[in-house]
Amino acid sequence: MPNIVIVGTQWGDEGKGKIVDVFTEHVKVVVRFQGGNNAGHTLVVDGKKTVLHLIPSGALTSGVTCIIGNGVVIDPEILLEEIAALQAKGYLIPKKNRKGEISSPLLISDKAHVILPYHKRIDFLREQKAGRDKIGTTGRGIGPTYEDKMARMGIRMGELVDPELLKKRLEVIIPEKNYFLKTVLGAEPFSFEEVYDVYSELGKKLAPYVQNTSIFLSEAIKKKQNILFEGAQGTSLDVDHGTYPFVTSSNTVAGNACSGSGVGPTAINGVLGIAKAYTTRVGSGPFPTELFDETGEQLRKIGSEFGATTGRPRRCGWIDTVVLRHAARVNGLTGVIVTKLDVLSGFKELKICDGYRYQGKVLKEFPGSIDVLNACEPIYTTVKGWKEDISGIKKFNKLPANARKYLQKIEKLTGVKIMMISVGPDREQQFLLKNPFRA
Ligand code: GDP
Ligand code: IMO
Ligand code: MG
Repeated sequence: MPNIVIVGTQWGDEGKGKIVDVFTEHVKVVVRFQGGNNAGHTLVVDGKKTVLHLIPSGALTSGVTCIIGNGVVIDPEILLEEIAALQAKGYLIPKKNRKGEISSPLLISDKAHVILPYHKRIDFLREQKAGRDKIGTTGRGIGPTYEDKMARMGIRMGELVDPELLKKRLEVIIPEKNYFLKTVLGAEPFSFEEVYDVYSELGKKLAPYVQNTSIFLSEAIKKKQNILFEGAQGTSLDVDHGTYPFVTSSNTVAGNACSGSGVGPTAINGVLGIAKAYTTRVGSGPFPTELFDETGEQLRKIGSEFGATTGRPRRCGWIDTVVLRHAARVNGLTGVIVTKLDVLSGFKELKICDGYRYQGKVLKEFPGSIDVLNACEPIYTTVKGWKEDISGIKKFNKLPANARKYLQKIEKLTGVKIMMISVGPDREQQFLLKNPFRA
């Protein structure tokens, strides 16, 4: 009964959604445990594209329960839009059993925190005020919502769906938020009514999905049902282990799959890291292997590297095994999945970073300070590329010899076995080297 965590090993957008969708046939439950609608997870099934922001990527497979765990921050309006869009396509339809009981394929933790309008306004205004020093957030209110969670002045889904509790909480919180908005950010305040009236209605609509999802997961574990924990963002965006302060506001690493969903570490059997065959990053912050030349442009164009959430062009560069080794360590990776290998077809030469030069020294480990990281020069090994289109390949030994060598080099430098290779956006465009669901 393997329960597996999937995490991004770089700066997000590694193809996590696609891989979760591929693995969903092996599981009964898919759980999101952190982040919010800053995530954009793309699934392509039979040529049709679906982008999910809050709903787990198990949504397109029937018989799977999708759980939004307590570690996620939820924008109720966006979530309702996402549910409606999926239901219009015939997904996430509640089922009635013989006893007439209704079961929903989507469950939301009563402990997940709610993104409120003041969170979004604070996120936007702070970024605007920071100007060139901005983080480049997605503007979705993610950071301010996690701040309130830690400050114990957040509103949870369990309170959103209870109008009396919501009223009580908002009466205390809104005056404090307004003081901050007015005096620190010079912004318009919110009236109690404008927030309460809208959010109590949204709460009513979401109420049927809200419950103690930790209990549901514990039952699933007892029944030996396979569970997939779907990470959002990537390891280098983790609030502790990433390029702080240019990070997101949650722990994106595998350890948080437990606290963010209410299961113990003993429930986890494996951790798979998704690694793009090159590197991308959206927003500000250090990125040692970034390319500012024609090659970077080519990667962006061929890889369609534009954000699935904000549409922003992604910064592109060579693969960085210093970043991958760091991800292997802090997540305890038991396997790596390489995505977008097809994008590298046609490049004459490829570069693999295996260390940084910093003040005359060679660094093999990812530095904890962004000042150090900004001053690092990547040390590259150059390997030969391949010309062939590999997007239809289904076996490792059918790959061009140079593609195999490229993968073997990455595996050796990262120190973790490659378990799957993805060669196109479609669900079918991948092949396994080792099935993590079989011993
Ligand atoms: P996520 O946030 O990690 O789920 O990744 P995104 O969905 O934001 O970005 C990954 C993009 O690459 C999406 O447009 C996917 O459809 C696409 N994609 C995923 N795997 C592959 C692959 O192996 N090859 C190609 N060409 N595209 C891929
Ligand atoms: P998925 O799950 C890529 C980045 C933002 C910004 C920083 C902080 O699709 O991989 P935030 O809005 O979270 O406060 O922004 O984090 N970021 C992502 N980059 N993929 C994501 O998610 C991201 N979610 C946040 O661009 O640099
Ligand atoms: Mg994404």
